[in-house]
Amino acid sequence: MKTVSTIADLKQAIKEIKTEGKTIAFVPTMGNLHSGHLSLVHKGNEVADVVVASIFVNPTQFGENEDLSNYPRTLEEDKKKLISEGCNLLFTPEKSDMYPKPDLAVTQVKHMSTLHCGASRPNHFNGVTTIVMKLFNLVQPDFGIFGLKDFQQFTILKTMVKDMFMPVEMIGVDTGRAEDGLAHSSRNNYLTAEEREIAPTLYQVICETKEKIISGKHSFANLIRDAKKQLADAGMTPDYFAICRQIDLNPATENDMDLVVLAAAYLGKARLIDNTHFSR
Ligand code: PAF
Repeated sequence: MKTVSTIADLKQAIKEIKTEGKTIAFVPTMGNLHSGHLSLVHKGNEVADVVVASIFVNPTQFGENEDLSNYPRTLEEDKKKLISEGCNLLFTPEKSDMYPKPDLAVTQVKHMSTLHCGASRPNHFNGVTTIVMKLFNLVQPDFGIFGLKDFQQFTILKTMVKDMFMPVEMIGVDTGRAEDGLAHSSRNNYLTAEEREIAPTLYQVICETKEKIISGKHSFANLIRDAKKQLADAGMTPDYFAICRQIDLNPATENDMDLVVLAAAYLGKARLIDNTHFSR
């Protein structure tokens, strides 16, 4: 695996790949890689000739009260994991390269970015869309590979790509899970042993809600109220619990068929998110 840190070196490496007529799958990350990230690299290898990954802890997607400086940085371990999964090129830019001063341009997907996670993390998704737009423009991938654990992020990025006519095929990869259902996430590292026992409740409640919808329960307001109570009874503090349309993440009505149940809850120091999407 070749590692480049400057934009000039990245452009040269991309030029060589394109000259050889090879297709590129791109896996943007913030590092501290776990098996979920590696499944994205695996998918990239299935669909394209070359897999490019990036590791960049993007400051613009962190809120003022979110600890950017303590975000885990594990570059050497990450590189080993990427090599073992067959990543071909790694881009590790500096903040001053990705956000040269004056830093005036942003990319925004309106409305959708303010819902759900966006309500408790204002500007978070504007930071995500801005950095992914910049990275896509530099890497020029044929495929963008993202985890579906961040379903809202994936939907927002898909909308950006579609609305901006970007020549990138977006691929969402199913969430990797522990045997008890807990989604793989860097945030699980914040859980104590006791909290780790409680954490799978989030996905259990999401799945139970899905089953109730499929079996014909249509009072979404009641389902949401019951789900939040179950989470609180288990010792979590629900942030949001939503039954939405997949297409635009607005609240679903009885007539909507393609649905996603999205939820976030605080557990100790961790803010866990998860979802399930389905058609009925
Ligand atoms: O999902 C992430 O890790 C980040 O939001 C992303 C897409 C790499 C942008 O910084």
